[in-house]
Amino acid sequence: MTVESPVTEDTPMFSLRNISKSFGAVNALTEVDLDIYPGEVVAIVGDNGAGKSTLVKILAGVHPATSGEIFFEREKVSINSPSDSRELGIATVFQDLALCDNLDVVANLFLGREVGTAAMNEVEMEQRSWELLRQLSAKLPSVRTPIASLSGGQRQTVAIARSLIGEPSVVVLDEPTAALGVAQTAEVLNLIERLRERGHGVVLISHNMADVQAVADRVVVLRLGRNNGDFRMPDVSYEDIIAAITGATDNEVTRRASATSTERRKK
Ligand SMILES: Nc1ncnc2c1ncn2[C@@H]1O[C@H](COP(=O)(O)OP(=O)(O)OP(=O)(O)O)[C@@H](O)[C@H]1O
Ligand SMILES: [Mg+2]
Repeated sequence: MTVESPVTEDTPMFSLRNISKSFGAVNALTEVDLDIYPGEVVAIVGDNGAGKSTLVKILAGVHPATSGEIFFEREKVSINSPSDSRELGIATVFQDLALCDNLDVVANLFLGREVGTAAMNEVEMEQRSWELLRQLSAKLPSVRTPIASLSGGQRQTVAIARSLIGEPSVVVLDEPTAALGVAQTAEVLNLIERLRERGHGVVLISHNMADVQAVADRVVVLRLGRNNGDFRMPDVSYEDIIAAITGATDNEVTRRASATSTERRKK
């Protein structure tokens, strides 16, 4: 299940340009740009209400952008529904995970994906489940455990594994560690690294700067619905990110970082 793609490391898989989204009088996003590269973890950070989830929902096809353009491998595309998003190879793990507590891991992984008239054979599904979890080096006691008896981190693992069944090129994770303890967070961060190793582009929404610094290659800051910084992780300190989030920001570092990312885009 490797991601085969004609793009090179330097070509964004997806490019969002000038994306705006309004809800009535509220401008949730104003002319936002975002690039998603294969094999890269890009974190999206910003204060409450900055527009992160709105951006995720535009990628997921939950609601279309009011204006702006989306390119997939340089070709203009439109995402008007969740199925458009899926067909373009985007898998989204929403914060609430949407797992069925009373069903076991296998059933959750394949929920709604039973093929044809005859449901996929149980043995086949179980084997495929183990295979998926093994690829993620995920630790689960058994694939026949009901979701209700798994830990938060294990549930997140199941939700991520499920997102991989459609063989996406991009995995979008909305606050995957928000409800997790230290050890479970570490497990999910490992999982994110596995996704990157396998060539997926990963979009990580997070409030947790430690997670972002641990695992992201690039961090995109949103503030009041606008871009307010696009930094490569090695170039940026914790303080710089916080400054960009809070708006104490028009400094050398942000100007330099956005110049660097514009340069990178031009290449
Ligand atoms: N369906 C909606 N209808 C009206 N306004 C909305 C809707 N969804 C989001 N908004 C508004 O858009 C803005 C951005 O919200 P969004 O949920 O994207 O922020 P966020 O960065 O995800 O915040 P948080 O960190 O709190 O999750 C907010 O002002 C919010 O009130
Ligand atoms: Mg949100």
